[in-house]
Amino acid sequence: MYLTRDEERILVGEEGQVRQKALEILVALGEIFEADRLISVNSVQVAGVSYKTLGEAGLEWIESLSMSRVCVPTTLNPAGMDLELWERMKIPKDFAERQIRVIHAFRKLGITPICTCTPYLLGSIPRLGEHIAWSESSAVCFANSVLGAKTNREGGPSALASALTGRTANYGYHLDENRMPTLKVRVKTRLAEESDFGALGYHIGRIVGSGVPYFTGIGDADTDMLKALGAALAASGSVTLYHMEGITPESSSVRRDGVETISFAEEDLRKAYSDLNTVGSGKVDLVCFGCPHASIEEVRRVAEALKGRKVAPHTKLWVFTSIGVKSIADRCGYTHIIEEAGGEVYSDCCMIVTPVEEMSFHSIAVNSAKAAVYAPTTSKVNVTFGTLRKCIEIATSGRVE
Ligand code: F3S
Repeated sequence: MYLTRDEERILVGEEGQVRQKALEILVALGEIFEADRLISVNSVQVAGVSYKTLGEAGLEWIESLSMSRVCVPTTLNPAGMDLELWERMKIPKDFAERQIRVIHAFRKLGITPICTCTPYLLGSIPRLGEHIAWSESSAVCFANSVLGAKTNREGGPSALASALTGRTANYGYHLDENRMPTLKVRVKTRLAEESDFGALGYHIGRIVGSGVPYFTGIGDADTDMLKALGAALAASGSVTLYHMEGITPESSSVRRDGVETISFAEEDLRKAYSDLNTVGSGKVDLVCFGCPHASIEEVRRVAEALKGRKVAPHTKLWVFTSIGVKSIADRCGYTHIIEEAGGEVYSDCCMIVTPVEEMSFHSIAVNSAKAAVYAPTTSKVNVTFGTLRKCIEIATSGRVE
């Protein structure tokens, strides 16, 4: 792999041990994936922030890097709790102390402590064709597909290595030839809201695996729908990039002749909804919105649907979003409406990386296909998956029928 003189200097330790190790990680990855060289990245998003996923060894490793600084704008994925309201969430104190140490260690590296999987809703908006190194799978899918930026799905350590060096290895989705569709999907049913797009993503992710789907037949889709689709594709498969005819920026330029075509019809949509439900009926402990983190529009819709109603006494309703959207929601009065109804709005965290399994929740309801895929294993809970309206009905009755 070709290295510039500067990169060679870093590799022999002339810029310190931390940068040397970081570059070693990138070079090793580059050699595995047969990259020709390293390329510059303009932003980094680091996953593996929750103490739940990081653990003690991960925390100590990040603390050990503290003599170095990142050299490109870098943000974080959600942590395991709201960094301000964690006591209200009833997060165990021991967990909270360790989570605060994690964030402190990242801050010492010069990382902006915005803990969100939707940095693109908060000003980190890469341009078409721009190389970045992001790690949260839904954010990666959004950046590649909707914004046309170029990133692989980085692991926590490789993203951190990119942040510390401003580089990544030139392979995978950084190369145009790997951004071509591998499967065409003709959508033959109407998709009306985020959960429908999540169901589509869940169904197709299982079929396409790590391929690149090309969707046709979707007349229109807003940002929230596109983020729900990408999150589900990346959860049930390991999709990193999708195209949508007439909607995503590379859809008209990618080559798609000779690519196999499948259909997605009304019965597939219904089956996806049914497959994502692990329970038929019963009590629901927690209803969650905001996977990926809710936009201000999504918070508004939850507030509107809850206005004048009450969450059932033994059920909780949580909305997860970024600190930026939360402050706008506070200002717009949406947080107040949700709290009046008995719900709560949290930032910096989400239902998957928060230790809900330690908090006596056994059954949750979500309108996110990604959360429905992960929750049974990561949080050991039963899941009901449905539309926003259905989740609100569950929250107010405390039950799914
Ligand atoms: Fe984001 Fe957590 Fe879902 S990181 S995409 S809200 S699992």
